[in-house]
Amino acid sequence: MNTIQVALGDRSYDILIEPGLLKRAGPILAPYARNDRLILVADDNSARHCVPLLSDALAAEGIRCDVLTLPAGEATKSWTHLAELCDRLLALEIERKDHVIAVGGGVIGDLVGFAAAIIKRGCQFIQVPTTLLSQVDSSVGGKTAINTGAGKNLIGSFHQPSLVLIDPETLATLPERELRAGYAEVVKYGLIDDPAFFDWCEANGVALLAGDLDARTRAIVSSVSSKARIVAADERETLDIRALLNLGHTFGHALEAERGFSSAMLHGEAVAAGMGLAFRFSAERGLCPTDEAERACVHLAAVGLPAGLHGFNTPGAHLVAHMLHDKKRSGGTLPFILARGIGQSFVDKSIALDEVAAFLDRQPR
Ligand code: GLY
Repeated sequence: MNTIQVALGDRSYDILIEPGLLKRAGPILAPYARNDRLILVADDNSARHCVPLLSDALAAEGIRCDVLTLPAGEATKSWTHLAELCDRLLALEIERKDHVIAVGGGVIGDLVGFAAAIIKRGCQFIQVPTTLLSQVDSSVGGKTAINTGAGKNLIGSFHQPSLVLIDPETLATLPERELRAGYAEVVKYGLIDDPAFFDWCEANGVALLAGDLDARTRAIVSSVSSKARIVAADERETLDIRALLNLGHTFGHALEAERGFSSAMLHGEAVAAGMGLAFRFSAERGLCPTDEAERACVHLAAVGLPAGLHGFNTPGAHLVAHMLHDKKRSGGTLPFILARGIGQSFVDKSIALDEVAAFLDRQPR
């Protein structure tokens, strides 16, 4: 069993990572049950593939599950579904010490986490992420949110889970495109501050995507270790440390917005394209050697991810206008995560947006 702690004083928690963990989760989750009952919240996909493993494992411990199922997809992160979920949890007589278990991808984790943050002024929750993106990023660190008409993740809170259980075997049923998009967030950790892990990604990324369970487990352990360290150092993103996790996100946000936050561009695909652009922008400004920027882009392309603006005919100024709706905007400027090389990312708050627009206009389409 790989155990990684997120060290946050009396809110510290463990992340357990092991293939086959869901089948063996009964004794691990049993201490969190009250009156031999646990509440699981899942989406249509995780309800089919993962909930039966968990509920069988809990039944073997004499624990009954109440399972609430929500539609899969980003539209579920809404006021409507939040209200409905809170009502259903209250109808199940949830108490403040109870632990709700979120079983699914980032949508379920973010929604259940936010519901847990506000029900009865805060109850507990456990993350069981079942997609690669949620296993390496969103289930760790306590960011919870819903979307509104004004944008993504604009309503939410920091609310840390009590435990995270990651079973890499759940990735076997994930659609290939979603797996690949999640892999962008794996590569991100190498590009931020771990050049040796980027070397590992170059050597093992293709095998990981093809189904190599050891490679998947290793990538999750390494990514989660990085994220736990970053979150422990800067839980609320006030010190320019956690902000590094936004590498690729400002450029990527513009691309996702241009595609209407639809399945035409998945979040991880936008992050990949955004990381390629951030490295090329850094190289163009003389901050990063050109061959390092190209190395980042070549690996993303080698695993079938976008690394630039191919397919976008949009003028740079139009894409920059999307960036201005990013929630990270502060005092009219945007922090950009740039790089001095592979594994040497940093925050730059002095970037003139007209320079970004001109850079984007020079990119191959
Ligand atoms: N997904 C970025 C963060 O957790 O800060």
